[in-house]
Amino acid sequence: MKNKILDILKTETDYVSGEKLSSLLGISRAAVWKHINNLKKDGYVITAVTNKGYRLEDSDVLSSEEIKKILNTKLIGKNIVCVEKTDSTNNLAKQRSNEPDGTVFLSEIQTMGRGRRGKVWKSADKNGLWMSIMVKPDIEPQKVPCLTLIAGLAVQKALSGIYKEKFEIKWPNDLVLNKKKVCGILSEMSCEMERLEYAICGIGVNLNNEAFDKDIENVATSVYLETGKKIKRFKAAAEIIGRFEELYFRFIDDGIESIIGEYKKVCATLGKDVVITGFGKEQKAKAVDVTPLGELVVETDGKKTVVTSGEVSVRGLFGYV
Ligand code: BTN
Repeated sequence: MKNKILDILKTETDYVSGEKLSSLLGISRAAVWKHINNLKKDGYVITAVTNKGYRLEDSDVLSSEEIKKILNTKLIGKNIVCVEKTDSTNNLAKQRSNEPDGTVFLSEIQTMGRGRRGKVWKSADKNGLWMSIMVKPDIEPQKVPCLTLIAGLAVQKALSGIYKEKFEIKWPNDLVLNKKKVCGILSEMSCEMERLEYAICGIGVNLNNEAFDKDIENVATSVYLETGKKIKRFKAAAEIIGRFEELYFRFIDDGIESIIGEYKKVCATLGKDVVITGFGKEQKAKAVDVTPLGELVVETDGKKTVVTSGEVSVRGLFGYV
């Protein structure tokens, strides 16, 4: 019932009286009032004026309708699942893996957001964008890291287009702005033998967040904190989904080679002195290249080694990037 009221309010730019809502929906005015209060609790800004009724103000609530209205894709985001709360949108995607290819899952908040390498991804803040894109391509499972790379580049392109600031990628796919992290990506997959069943690219963007916990404020920031500008999450979501589809189709049609050059151009790690942590040790090296499978090529004492994101973590010698 709450959603029916919301649908009516969305189609009207002016006030809708309680009386009209109650007769359209066959419920009492007191019930209308109760549902309106619940919508307000959900984050919708609804103005109530005596003798006029209720009006939905411009609010930043995630909904599939809002995203679809401005989305112009053929596959990705044709089906969108938006929920109020979930443990992790990646988990939600797994539970609903029978949803069609290209389904996008979004949640206002996550109670147990997951990051790479078993880390927690703090996402109890509605100001962030927490979403997972599920795709079912006919590719070898070894190529799934390419999707992670594509997701990172899609977010980089989307945010650079919207904000005009210099967003860069810290290998493998952390998006950084002013040397601090604004987005992380966690890709997961399910496969049988050599056949990929589905891959999930979980994207977490610190978009409009106003503050961070002390333990991460040195490395994490939000796009808002860096630029002073807030944008609606559904707009950012639509932009990212559109960019992802563009790159995804290029990858399927022409291979990752058609994309890797663009990735390298915005990869802040390349050419930097870095510290590689993995295999029980820390080692200084220079990041010199990224392979078509998204692995990092590092050089130590003139010797080149290829490392994967599953094996090692990389940070700059003089800071996070
Ligand atoms: C990282 O940088 O460690 C990856 C963070 C990935 C976070 C996103 S938020 C949406 C999706 N759901 C999750 O639980 N994690 C990813």
